[in-house]
Amino acid sequence: MKKIGVLTSGGDAPGMNPAIRAVVRKAIFSGLEVVGIQRGYSGLIRGEFREMNLSSVADIIYRGGTMLRTARSENFRTPEGRTKAAGNLRSQGIEGLVVIGGDGSFRGAQALGREHGIRFIGVPGTIDNDIPCTDYTIGFDTAVNNVVDAVNKIRDTATSHERTYVIEVMGRNSGFIALEAGLAGGAESILIPEMGVNINDIIEKLERGMQRGKLHSIIIVAEGAGSGIEIGRLIQERTGSETKVTILGHIQRGGTPTSFDRVIASRMGALAVDLLVKGETAKMVGMISGSLKDFDIDYALSQEKTIDRSVYELASILAI
Ligand code: F6P
Repeated sequence: MKKIGVLTSGGDAPGMNPAIRAVVRKAIFSGLEVVGIQRGYSGLIRGEFREMNLSSVADIIYRGGTMLRTARSENFRTPEGRTKAAGNLRSQGIEGLVVIGGDGSFRGAQALGREHGIRFIGVPGTIDNDIPCTDYTIGFDTAVNNVVDAVNKIRDTATSHERTYVIEVMGRNSGFIALEAGLAGGAESILIPEMGVNINDIIEKLERGMQRGKLHSIIIVAEGAGSGIEIGRLIQERTGSETKVTILGHIQRGGTPTSFDRVIASRMGALAVDLLVKGETAKMVGMISGSLKDFDIDYALSQEKTIDRSVYELASILAI
């Protein structure tokens, strides 16, 4: 293998830049040429290639977002789009691809590999942490810290005004961000799709707290569990307590990556290059109990990542 490509795809995640840096520098160290593909699969179809050298990735380790830009490509979902993408890779002499992104990006790479024999390794990069075969995805830790920072600030005003606050967080169909940030932020209730939502339970808990003289509460709602606005409206209506709603939105995805995200991004990016050099393909890298491992992509994408119920139960016990 002489030349590889790297792209970021799907929602950006803090830590994608350190992952790109690791891929580029480890590849050059291993005697390979590296091409950066801009704007994910959209750029791959349009032929947006740029040669990468050691200094192309200087000063990016601490920056959020992705210097290669990213996109969600509808065209790549079609066989015609993937044929064009494979043709572009071949005409550039790119023999292996590192795809940094979430499960949608991995499914795209899987199709490209199956239909056109393109060699690839997936590096899990998404704030949602919803990818199986890895305890952590790149960007999750930073997103959780962003949420906890917001919860701390909201708690100041919630306490001062003795109000209930509903905070809606990202995570698509999963509750990993809500659960981790809820435990770390001391939320009174955490609503996640994996556990179902029972509004009566939440209201009873709030009322029990009010009877004890507790006049402020923080409720974290994963976007996949329901609308924060709707839940806030129901709580205010049923408890009579003034309830404010904050939707944190894309602020969760921004900012400098935490050292944890930088470290896993660096390790995972470098391992992806090692695997390509060894002739491996159709794999993803992951971190299990602190050790890096690789998994067949077909196996990984057939698994379901589940939340740790004991963490959910603990959060609930501690917020009694
Ligand atoms: O997958 C990452 C994520 O931030 C999800 O948590 C969220 O549902 C989605 O992307 C938002 O997508 P967009 O940035 O396209 O609005």
